[in-house]
Amino acid sequence: MQVVNSKQSKAFKGSMMPLALPDLNELWQLDLRCFVDGEAYERETFRYLLSNPNTVSRQIRSINDEMVAFAIAIIESDGIGHITTIGVAPEHRRRGLARLMLIEIERALCARQVSTIRLEVRVGNNSAHNLYEQLGYSIVQRMSKYYSNGDDGYLMVKPL
Ligand SMILES: CC(C)(COP(=O)(O)OP(=O)(O)OC[C@H]1O[C@@H](n2cnc3c(N)ncnc32)[C@H](O)[C@@H]1OP(=O)(O)O)[C@@H](O)C(=O)NCCC(=O)NCCS
Repeated sequence: MQVVNSKQSKAFKGSMMPLALPDLNELWQLDLRCFVDGEAYERETFRYLLSNPNTVSRQIRSINDEMVAFAIAIIESDGIGHITTIGVAPEHRRRGLARLMLIEIERALCARQVSTIRLEVRVGNNSAHNLYEQLGYSIVQRMSKYYSNGDDGYLMVKPL
């Protein structure tokens, strides 16, 4: 467990740790609040991810022990780290929590010999796009109609 003491303009105090199966329901509920565009995961998808030994995850909990942020990556069979989802509760955004989780996940992936990370982001999701760009991810491809509502997506990649 790692103490989180964000010094952004809007301060946040809490702790960061990996996700585990007992977090499943809370994670699913938070995901539904984060992804209001119809792209929220099914509960069973989270169960699969949290049960998979190739998953690397982080959550941030408030001092009231409430989950406020989560991020999940999976090491694919080709050895590439794939950031599958990241979300921060709307009331805790812009406090550096997403950046903090991604930096920790990158460290953990690096320790497991991952040398490349990929992720997908909806064209027009400026918050996420800026976050990834700030952390060194580059667009390598625009994927036509990648999302279920027909929106295009960008494939972004970062060498570690
Ligand atoms: C995208 C998301 C995870 C960002 O979480 P966050 O904790 O608010 O992000 P951070 O505070 O760590 O921001 C880091 C950087 O991301 C960018 N960013 C984050 N929110 C932004 C916004 N609303 N507008 C523009 N840039 C933004 C900025 O570059 C920011 O750095 P800065 O604050 O120094 O300018 C959050 O908005 C979210 O949960 N969105 C809904 C789910 C989602 O879209 N997930 C990504 C799917 S690909």
